[in-house]
Amino acid sequence: MQEAPGTNKSSARGSKTIPNELYFTRKLLEWHHRDNRREMPWKGIHDPYKIWLSEIILQQTRVSQGLSYYLRLLAAYPSIEKLATASDAEVMKLWEGLGYYTRCRNMLRTARIVMTNYKGQFPASFEKLLELPGIGPYTAAAIASFAFRLPYAVVDGNVSRVLSRFFGIETPIDTTNGKQLFAQLAGRLLDSREPGVYNQAIMDFGATVCMPQQPICGLCPLGKKCTARQNGVVHRLPVKEKAVMKKIRWLAYFVFEYQGKWCVQERTDKDIWQNLFEFYAVETEGAMEWTQPVIVEWLQQQGIRRFQLNHISALYTQLLTHREIRAVFIRVKLSGIPHFLKNHRWIAVQKMKTLPFPRVINRWLDEGFEQPIWGKAGPAK
Ligand code: ADE
Repeated sequence: MQEAPGTNKSSARGSKTIPNELYFTRKLLEWHHRDNRREMPWKGIHDPYKIWLSEIILQQTRVSQGLSYYLRLLAAYPSIEKLATASDAEVMKLWEGLGYYTRCRNMLRTARIVMTNYKGQFPASFEKLLELPGIGPYTAAAIASFAFRLPYAVVDGNVSRVLSRFFGIETPIDTTNGKQLFAQLAGRLLDSREPGVYNQAIMDFGATVCMPQQPICGLCPLGKKCTARQNGVVHRLPVKEKAVMKKIRWLAYFVFEYQGKWCVQERTDKDIWQNLFEFYAVETEGAMEWTQPVIVEWLQQQGIRRFQLNHISALYTQLLTHREIRAVFIRVKLSGIPHFLKNHRWIAVQKMKTLPFPRVINRWLDEGFEQPIWGKAGPAK
């Protein structure tokens, strides 16, 4: 049984130097209550039927796609009894286009089991929920916490990503070890007084702030203590065993300029290029089109309002023994130093070549940045 060991207690909060686990929960909940604007019809409700329906739909589906299916299914079957007595074909038809049809078949089986074995009431027990077709640990934790306020933490790829980054955990999330480790940590972080609120908060946080590709670290309320951010490895986490085989690494280097100085950082982690310098790096899982609108949006997401986008370079490549680096350089002139770059080093442009850089950056320094700079209005035609 997944208890919440080391449950966060309110009495331990409020002290000046709170441990990272307490800090995490407190800041996450603060963000949820103050800034989380994600509206969804199943949020904040306690009806197990509606919660279950939404969670089954969302198992392999994005919220944006699942929403209309949820509304249509709920309109057609406003109660579990209505769903349980519908014909398979009719329900399948409503499910059409959503894919993973086993989910639909299991949904019907569960509806009928709940009607016959539980008199139409979902059991208020994590273990009993787990016995129902189509309900795994994540869905059982979601239903148990949202509907019955039971202290079970949801753990999936999104949650593991958030935790691996904040706590700097390099254990691959897709191994037995990793799964156990993240489940235990998630259990400790859970606010057992309001487990549903906590679970909703971390789901939404993973979906809207700590996203896989372009997390908005500049605006992250947990950024001050985020290990991955401090070590500049946000885009390398979470580690997946499969990802070890990845050959190409895609980097966007933001060359931030302010009053004749450029922003650089030292690579301190155990990754490639340890102790070499680089510009502010955004690493993506795959190829990414860093076009002007994409860059502008990214800068705005980091909270940078006033800037001049001066240049987007061609793709520069560098071959390493086990990796191929593909990097683009983006020159941005700032009118102030944003908070998330406050602790970076700012070096006069003329002194750049005194720092040790990886080859790919030196090549750009040698040939790239001399190229004409775009004016305020954007790239010259
Ligand atoms: N994904 C799965 N369940 C969710 C929920 N309750 N809210 C947001 N995203 C989800």
